[in-house]
Amino acid sequence: MDRFRSMPAENIGSFYDSMKPEVYDEMVRLINATESEQILAKILERTDLHADSEIYDVGCGTGLMGRLLHEQGFQQIDGMDASEQFVSEAMRRGHYRNCESFYLGEKQLPKERLGRYDLVTAHGVWVPNHMPAKAIIDCVDALKEGGYFITAMRSYLWEKGDSNGYRDMIDAVVEEGKLSILETGKFMRGVEGGNDMFAPQESMYFVARKPGPPQ
Ligand SMILES: C[S@@+](CC[C@H](N)C(=O)[O-])C[C@H]1O[C@@H](n2cnc3c(N)ncnc32)[C@H](O)[C@@H]1O
Repeated sequence: MDRFRSMPAENIGSFYDSMKPEVYDEMVRLINATESEQILAKILERTDLHADSEIYDVGCGTGLMGRLLHEQGFQQIDGMDASEQFVSEAMRRGHYRNCESFYLGEKQLPKERLGRYDLVTAHGVWVPNHMPAKAIIDCVDALKEGGYFITAMRSYLWEKGDSNGYRDMIDAVVEEGKLSILETGKFMRGVEGGNDMFAPQESMYFVARKPGPPQ
């Protein structure tokens, strides 16, 4: 996993294309990436979404978040990811209505995604050389008025002035009145031994909402 630290961010799709989906899934299990469960818990606790709510899972990977959502009864889940292989695999597993492959945070979001979703969610994407901070704007643009943005990241990345700029971008979007933060909280993830990227550490989730009446 150290390999992606030294590569251009735009190559992230080919990095994941080189990994077998089942190997990726096993890695997620081994590293105790508890963020998807935290995100799901907040979706169920803080929103009034229903089976037909429109959901966009950005950086969907092999579709682990989509599976959790589908198991809860959500039916209208779209996904996107930079890895063509992961997008095909996520579709094959049958939890998504539609999945497409592109790099988020560089070009404009496809116009059919703008203002469409009741919930945008993302797991495991706010990591160096993964989604750039600009992708946060796309997540907000994909929301309907009143729609929710619920995601999580390692706490050390949620710092003002951090070079990845996630916190600064969220603060800017909030200041512009395009998003309100309803709740943030902390939890632990990771396992002892091995790579320090996956060591036990604090993560934080946030629940945010686009202002305006729910549609
Ligand atoms: C750690 S994996 C998380 C995958 C999935 N969300 C999960 O829960 O298992 C990160 C994923 O984000 C995707 N990704 C990273 N940066 C991206 C970007 N800028 N645009 C689209 N996908 C991106 C990668 O291709 C990869 O599938």
